[in-house]
Amino acid sequence: MWPQTLPMNDVDDELLIYSPLMRSFTFNAYLVAGYTPIVKGNKLDFFINRQQGMKGYILNITLRGAGVIHRNNETFICRENDILLFPPGCPHHYGREAQSTYWDHLWIYFIPRPYWIDWLKWDRNWHQIGLTQSADSVFVEQLKTAVKEVIRLNSSPDRVDKILAMNSLEKALLYCFKQQPASNRASVDPRINAICQYLDENLAAKLTISELAAKAYLSSSRLAHLFRQEIGMTIWGWREKQRMSRAAMLLQHTQLTISQIAQVVGYDDALYFSRLFHQQYHVGPREYRKRYEQLHSL
Ligand code: FCB
Repeated sequence: MWPQTLPMNDVDDELLIYSPLMRSFTFNAYLVAGYTPIVKGNKLDFFINRQQGMKGYILNITLRGAGVIHRNNETFICRENDILLFPPGCPHHYGREAQSTYWDHLWIYFIPRPYWIDWLKWDRNWHQIGLTQSADSVFVEQLKTAVKEVIRLNSSPDRVDKILAMNSLEKALLYCFKQQPASNRASVDPRINAICQYLDENLAAKLTISELAAKAYLSSSRLAHLFRQEIGMTIWGWREKQRMSRAAMLLQHTQLTISQIAQVVGYDDALYFSRLFHQQYHVGPREYRKRYEQLHSL
């Protein structure tokens, strides 16, 4: 667990209990969250340098003191209440800012649900890193509360709490999204929204483009074009992502076998399903479940 040398009275003791940092966990999980209270000279006072970045996103909120982010020869100093969003593959090179005694921050590593993607484009960026600085103290408090909720719920042994953690993360991301000017909130065409909802509700159904097009009162080619324009991928590509994300949830939270899960999300052929799953999560479904169970039993 946590090193005993940490000045415990100086940090948010309660949150420390839930932080996974000192455990051996894998970042193959879709959600890992923690609290890093860096004090000059303590065990956490080192620089992170992940040149290839990570597979998922990282949301980072400074609670106290200052951090410094390096990128090539430039630096960015983040201070209390600054919120950063590192996208996948973006280098992580950061640590306590030399002049500051502290850099306490909360962070969440996550693989977003497909429909969250639009909320992850922030108006301001430093290099590829999203940046939100807000003087709205209500927003800042709401966000911190939601992020702490994610950390607590995600460390609970109760499986439903882990789903609630995703729920709180969704809330946190929406709070941030509300801080982006309206230009960034141009909503998806309602016909496409309706199609997404229909696909979600009928995830396993064997559907054709022309059936979907009829529901949206569009021609097949117009629907295909509009879908790609609005969502950034093909209809079937999007549905596949939804199917895989449902499958990942079922692997984690049910005892269903892999072929049963394949059926539930719409594949008769379990091998084919496993291949698609591997493409998305870089591990097969069996291994995914095993890793999740190991993580869970820590
Ligand atoms: C911790 C860092 C935190 C975040 C997680 C993934 O070691 O303190 O900022 O990068 O790793």
